[in-house]
Amino acid sequence: MKTAVSPLLPTYTPYPFLLVSGQGERVCDDRGRTYLDFYGGHCVASTGHCHPAVAAAIADQARKLIFYSAAAQLPVRDRAAQALVEFAGAGMASVFFCNSGAEANESALKVAIKLTGRKHLVAFQGAFHGRSLLALSVTDSPALRKDYEALLAPTRFLPFADSAALDAADFSQAAAVIVEPIQSMAGVKTASARWFAALREKCTRAGTLLIFDEVQSGIGRVGAPFAAQLYGVAPDLITCAKGMASGVPMGGMLMNSALASALKPGDLGSTFGGGPLACAALIATLKVIVEEKLVERASNLAKHIRSRLADGVVQKVRGAGLLLGLEAGTQAKALKTHLLNQHILVGGSDDPNVLRLMPPLTVADQAVEKLLACIADFQAEGVAA
Ligand SMILES: Cc1ncc(COP(=O)(O)O)c(C=O)c1O
Repeated sequence: MKTAVSPLLPTYTPYPFLLVSGQGERVCDDRGRTYLDFYGGHCVASTGHCHPAVAAAIADQARKLIFYSAAAQLPVRDRAAQALVEFAGAGMASVFFCNSGAEANESALKVAIKLTGRKHLVAFQGAFHGRSLLALSVTDSPALRKDYEALLAPTRFLPFADSAALDAADFSQAAAVIVEPIQSMAGVKTASARWFAALREKCTRAGTLLIFDEVQSGIGRVGAPFAAQLYGVAPDLITCAKGMASGVPMGGMLMNSALASALKPGDLGSTFGGGPLACAALIATLKVIVEEKLVERASNLAKHIRSRLADGVVQKVRGAGLLLGLEAGTQAKALKTHLLNQHILVGGSDDPNVLRLMPPLTVADQAVEKLLACIADFQAEGVAA
């Protein structure tokens, strides 16, 4: 007898409801129930679900031209690149558009290998950079790597935010060091500006390219355009994806002018990268972020959330802006379930004691108050006891 399989290959354990629509920080199921999305559709819904300006920009573009590859020069693609480079600052002069975070990291690592002529990579313990083979090479996950070890690029994993280990490391054979400035999946771990400055200095001295993976931390989420500004560091390359086009699939590899001028046509390519719909969505996303002052909002909301969760079930709040980790110890899992029962979605992490908040940057004050009240209820009721 044949085993019945789902037409859609199951890759995640989904929420226990059917999600059919979204607006702002809310998503709605097929029975009309709404949920507050502090998971942000996987850190993607930067301007909220279906922001009217983003939806209109996508619809307008869809009526003009849905797709043409990089074989044609498109004004919308040129405008998107200009807008992203201006928004980014941090010494970024040029962007290669692709379709996902993994593709952006894969491209950045390839550029580093090509331009340095070196084959070794350096990454950090706890890192997640994606599932394609070079991105997986620098991802510290035995479960994801085990079947492919023989195919992965040689990579040394250093302890994150450890100055002694950084001092002792030899980068002379390394094409690139890749780092998430805030390690999200690992449990929203941060390092000091001093540590990042030492990392920058060491890469420069060794002729090793420094790649900031800002797939989660970029595009205004951490209270600065990119975490690079938060820590006062100018990486050689910054990768982004997730929220950059408010949910239309898009990745970007930003680079400084020295690298951009060393690359020539044909070195990189991607059929769908920089497609008109994604570019229109990116332009609209950046416009909303600037006009609605969402970078400042992310920073202010983080201060507010921290001040309200200073002690209690959440013992510590990690991270920056609206990429926050709530340390809740052994009660983290019960707190996540409690919030889901109250129709509030939050993320888990590889650290079982840490829940993640990565809501839309537009999240309403009332929604934040509701979250804080539900966490307080959990404490008061001793729900986990
Ligand atoms: C920091 C980071 N880098 C890279 C990726 C891979 O992005 P994608 O799933 O778009 O390939 C992710 C995805 O969660 C991520 O969090």
